[in-house]
Amino acid sequence: MGFADDTTPISLWHRRLSRRRLLAGGSELAILSALTPGCTSVVQRPASAARLGFETVSPSREDTVIVPEGYRTDILLRWGDPLFPDTPALDPAAVAGGGLLEPAAARDQERQFGYNCDGLGVLEIGGGELLVCVNHEYPNPELLFPGYRAAQQAGAAADFIRSHPQCVAFMQAAVGVSIAHFQSATDWALKTDSPFNRRITANTPMELSGPARGHELLKTAQDDTGTRVNGTFYNCAAGVTPWGTYLTAEEAAEDFFGNRRAARFTPDEERTHNRFRPRGRESRFRWEFVDPRFDVALHPREPFKFGWIVEMDPRDPSKPIKKRTALGRFKHEGATTVVAPDGRVVVYMGDDEAFEYLYKFVTRDAFDPERPEANADLLDSGTLHVARFNEDGSGEWVPLVWREHPALTPENGFTSQGDVVLRCREAANRVGATPMDRPEDVAVSPRTHKVYLACTRNPDRESGEVESAGRTVSVGVDAPNPRAPNPWGHIVEFSEGGADAAATGFRWEIFLLAGDPAGGRFLTTLDARAVALDSQSTYFAGYAYPDDVSALAAPDNLTFDDAGNLWITTDGEQPGGNNDGCYVCPTAGAGRGAVRQFMSGPVGCEVTGCEVTPDGRNLLLSIQHPGEGGTVEAPVSNWPDGGTAAPRPSLLAVRPQDVRRKLID
Ligand code: FEO
Ligand code: CA
Ligand code: CA
Repeated sequence: MGFADDTTPISLWHRRLSRRRLLAGGSELAILSALTPGCTSVVQRPASAARLGFETVSPSREDTVIVPEGYRTDILLRWGDPLFPDTPALDPAAVAGGGLLEPAAARDQERQFGYNCDGLGVLEIGGGELLVCVNHEYPNPELLFPGYRAAQQAGAAADFIRSHPQCVAFMQAAVGVSIAHFQSATDWALKTDSPFNRRITANTPMELSGPARGHELLKTAQDDTGTRVNGTFYNCAAGVTPWGTYLTAEEAAEDFFGNRRAARFTPDEERTHNRFRPRGRESRFRWEFVDPRFDVALHPREPFKFGWIVEMDPRDPSKPIKKRTALGRFKHEGATTVVAPDGRVVVYMGDDEAFEYLYKFVTRDAFDPERPEANADLLDSGTLHVARFNEDGSGEWVPLVWREHPALTPENGFTSQGDVVLRCREAANRVGATPMDRPEDVAVSPRTHKVYLACTRNPDRESGEVESAGRTVSVGVDAPNPRAPNPWGHIVEFSEGGADAAATGFRWEIFLLAGDPAGGRFLTTLDARAVALDSQSTYFAGYAYPDDVSALAAPDNLTFDDAGNLWITTDGEQPGGNNDGCYVCPTAGAGRGAVRQFMSGPVGCEVTGCEVTPDGRNLLLSIQHPGEGGTVEAPVSNWPDGGTAAPRPSLLAVRPQDVRRKLID
């Protein structure tokens, strides 16, 4: 097959690589190494490719947490642990008997560690004490309430919820955020009498700030000012700002709203829902059958109050929690902050849905470390950008600024910056953003300042066009999303122009094509002259020794340690049907891309959180939805309590047993 006049997806990939070779002045005499399964083991690692100091964990299907020899795991908080001295602990042995259907359960849950812990942030508050902020993404009613799954299978989930309205109160208390005060990162003693311990739930009052504050579409029956909102939910990944606040990202908020097909929207409402749609009939969790706020036929604008980045000050519970609308409304995966050389603050944000986009916000004003009060509302003013990737390895951050971009004008239906941020996905379409394979978490190397984006997976990447999230989109393979389908996910590496996070241009490379290096095709360079990249092709940043590399799929959360190692946690089907886990690799030097498994989670979980404590000794991980796939009547996991106890999402610290050691030597 010739390349010149060929427009197949693979040929586009070829063309991009050919262009890159030309740009490199022909000096890139790439050596192709496409190893078949039968010959992967013949390439041995030389002694010069030093490995990180731990023994690789083997993939597992066991219902337990596995870490390398020489490491210990401490469970810091389990779902239902009390955060206050007057609160009882949840009894996991009572869940199967309907304990959570008792009215007291919801009241207690409001003061206990929430369900399905996810992204987290760690703040030092002096004397080695820590505030750990943890998101609680969504409930699993089939693991909480006996009879729910049977009712669901009979098409009667709504009847179940109507008959047990306390379930909704419980679920509303189980999501949101927990803030927990620990004595130290050595003994991890929880201070239950601390004034900093908090629960934020689906009903906690908060404010809307930034360009959409007061927008007509945010005025509802409960709030005729468009400035207030009750609660936060689907809190996915997170971030910590340089001024010490916590950012929680509202992801699939539309799943909580139902009855769209019965709604009579105004044209503005219809348009604003179009790319971020509530469920047509029953919502995922059926809250609307008890709480009409979640019925969009009754409250068509309530969903517009969700899908934002939310900022809170863990050190000062008296300060209002604010949804920062300047950062756009979409399925926010996370919010990774960096200070640019001129002091402005940059927030990287993925929109976690197939064929959605990567964004970054750049504050108008610089961060002032000397005057904390000056930073309080930095996230209300600045420029939101969306990423456009070019086939030649360059890219642009396109500003989403009302009237400055010719597509974002009153003639095109945008009458304010408030419109732009409320219909952020539509604005991004109009400026030519690049649809990605579920762009999730972002991490920035403290050593190289390179930026890494996890694209979890996209089985729907194929040739042609499809309807996706309210628009027709080309779903053919392209250079930044080079596999079709993409069942295992990938990671993209960026270099911002001038190593300036606020730059408007960047260069990018594929860092990782996930999958099974033994079961598929192991590539050591992405030169396509002799190999067609397919869905089973794997690539580990050019690392050449497949025996060293662990199989992994569905990279979701990312973080860096001080040494510049990239930590990756996974959410999704792993090669061989193994459990999700945590992986780590260097991003520079001889070991660049040598991804090895560091931890394996229990059955049915995804591994999230993934932050290193400031002392560099602990890796904090959230075990989310252990036992997913089972039911409260027929559990597939009893982690962590064992016996017949309900599985419990929990926060872990993993650290070396030798207290003198850093997390990785
Ligand atoms: Fe909530 Fe995209 O993971
Ligand atoms: Ca996630
Ligand atoms: Ca996830």
